[in-house]
Amino acid sequence: MPKKKRRFAVLTGGGDCPGLNAVIAAVVKTFLNNGCEVYGVLNGFNGLVMDRVKKMDYASVSGILYRGGTILGTTNRDNPFKFAEEVNGEIVYSDKRDQVVANLKKYGIEALVVIGGDGSMNIGAQLARECGIKVVGCPKTIDNDLACTERTFGFDTAVAMASEAVDRLHSTAESHHRVMALEVMGRYAGWIALHAGIAGGADIILLPEIPYTMESILAKIEQRRALGKEFSIIVVAEGAKPVGGEMTVARMVKGSFEPVRLGGVGEKLVREIEAATGIESRCTVLGYLQRGGSPTAFDRVLCTRYGVAAAEACLRGEGNVIAALSGDKIIMVDIQLAAAKAREVPVDSEIIRTGRQIGICFGD
Ligand code: F6P
Repeated sequence: MPKKKRRFAVLTGGGDCPGLNAVIAAVVKTFLNNGCEVYGVLNGFNGLVMDRVKKMDYASVSGILYRGGTILGTTNRDNPFKFAEEVNGEIVYSDKRDQVVANLKKYGIEALVVIGGDGSMNIGAQLARECGIKVVGCPKTIDNDLACTERTFGFDTAVAMASEAVDRLHSTAESHHRVMALEVMGRYAGWIALHAGIAGGADIILLPEIPYTMESILAKIEQRRALGKEFSIIVVAEGAKPVGGEMTVARMVKGSFEPVRLGGVGEKLVREIEAATGIESRCTVLGYLQRGGSPTAFDRVLCTRYGVAAAEACLRGEGNVIAALSGDKIIMVDIQLAAAKAREVPVDSEIIRTGRQIGICFGD
């Protein structure tokens, strides 16, 4: 009788992010190369509840390393512990954990690789804690805000996209003598704005971690004007807020892990600047361009390392852990760390000091 092969599963949860396919490829190949079987769960946790899985082979992951998105599909809405379904036009929530457990048992899945951000890791941690499922995470998000790791995959690609956008805005700003703001994503953390702003040579960078005053922003613009520089570039994180004020909410998404969607601060800001200075001011919202397309070489390598490390942890029989970058090493840490509070930009960090030393205004 041939020995029964060990079986594992992999899913992608939350918003899409450059590098998801590179992680899937690494996970699947590592399992296959170690004589195991691997199933892909479709559309994140929805597929676990609805029993939508497909057996993966080498052909399923061939040529996907550099492709954006996720071949498995994803959603940021379906939490098995609070599963939203529409009944007569109303959203009704129910606990589907038993369905998840039964489906994993049906396929004989030993452990589940969850590729996701804090929302997915919260669910993964709960599945591990309350249902005894072995979950191993891979830290995804362009926001770079997971507490467990120095770097999430997707961030480098988002920063590359955003800094290229800053480069391109320079020519219009300079030609038209305008103030140009670029609003970037990042939710409650300013990592993308900070890195793209420094890489793109922004004059002003506004982060959620450092509430801004209009006085400070206007003083910087005036200081530049006095030096004969009739344009200014601002990179503003979607979560930036004025001192004593609130973040700008774009919309609420029913049934999502995290219903608040930020957006709109950049437009508000340029209107105020134009009213105060008389300088024509415009805002560009970079939006989902930051999440789409091919991952950078850095992200491809990081994704591959994360994917292999996650699969190896499963092979060792580990669960309730997530792959993380520490120094230049990939380590496994408690998944609860990823599900914990978001990692914000430390306001007293070396990188903020670097920005200040070269004259960047942080709005404070
Ligand atoms: O977490 C990634 C992210 O792109 C954030 O930067 C942004 O605030 C949010 O997701 C947007 O979510 P959605 O895709 O639901 O609009």
